[in-house]
Amino acid sequence: MTRPGGATPAFARGRRLRSTPALRRLTAQTRLAPADFVLPVFVKEGITDPVPISSMPGVVQHTLDSLRKAAHEAADAGIGGLILFGIPAEKDPVGSQADAAEGIVNVALQQLRADLGDELVLMADLCLCEYTDHGHCGIVTPAGVVDNDPTLDRYASVAIAQARAGAHVIAPSGMMDGQVAAIRRALDGAGYTETPILAYAAKYASSFYGPFREAAEGAPQFGDRATYQMDPPNADEALREVAQDLAEGADAVMVKPALPYLDIVTRVADAVDVPVSAYQVSGEYAMLEAAAALGWVDRRRAILETLTAIRRAGAGSVLTYWAVEAARWLR
Ligand code: PBG
Repeated sequence: MTRPGGATPAFARGRRLRSTPALRRLTAQTRLAPADFVLPVFVKEGITDPVPISSMPGVVQHTLDSLRKAAHEAADAGIGGLILFGIPAEKDPVGSQADAAEGIVNVALQQLRADLGDELVLMADLCLCEYTDHGHCGIVTPAGVVDNDPTLDRYASVAIAQARAGAHVIAPSGMMDGQVAAIRRALDGAGYTETPILAYAAKYASSFYGPFREAAEGAPQFGDRATYQMDPPNADEALREVAQDLAEGADAVMVKPALPYLDIVTRVADAVDVPVSAYQVSGEYAMLEAAAALGWVDRRRAILETLTAIRRAGAGSVLTYWAVEAARWLR
């Protein structure tokens, strides 16, 4: 809008505060810090060297030793925490290795806790899909249906094993009804009353988990996860899932994936007064890495822009495979 004299009125001058990098920095509404990031890591039993994941360039399945080294690097970079996924050598219908004391993920938790103490928050993803031979997140009936309540008993036992191994936070991702209550009860009963639960509360049945299934070797051998994970068109349901998890005792909640679900991140963040995390998943990582490799986007700017967007939408912390690299950029 221009006045007769030609001067633009004061209220129209949005560019004033953008004119120098220092002004933009001073007026930035969203800031990123290393402590906002949680790095998902994969540890595999029975390998002698880290195994690269082809669909996630730069991400590997770790040996116990390479994981310890990566964890030290993560601590040095100042990130908030790690979330662990284990890949056992032997899988079976009930996912026995998830709660075996000598199971790979529990051994890894023990070692990292001994190495790092409380320097990083060690989170344990709690699910069965990496541990079951059928690749589903729970116990499957002969008819091929994922059976909710028997699965809760398994989750309860896995939660105790993970807490005992040294996890600071238990993060159930299986999307069974009642999982938070079952895990809270189990943890309390075993004396882990101070171990918080970060619930994957609004987890969608997403195509963006594709590369993760290579990384964690947990692709369903039949069917898909649409009967337990949320349907992408739904938004109100996410609030219901979140409310239910909080009522069951969740200490913090997560939305997953992140970028295609920023509206959900915002609605959840507006609705609750507990910490909200968002998981920038494997497909989000792969998509951007692929475009960057082709020279189609500026890799670093694009990564930081996505992380900023997720924080701007309302997530307090972001689970991201770029956690350590991004943290170093911010130092
Ligand atoms: C396990 C789990 C999955 C992811 C995190 N926990 C896979 C799935 O639900 O199929 C996906 C993470 C990613 O894609 O980065 N239930």
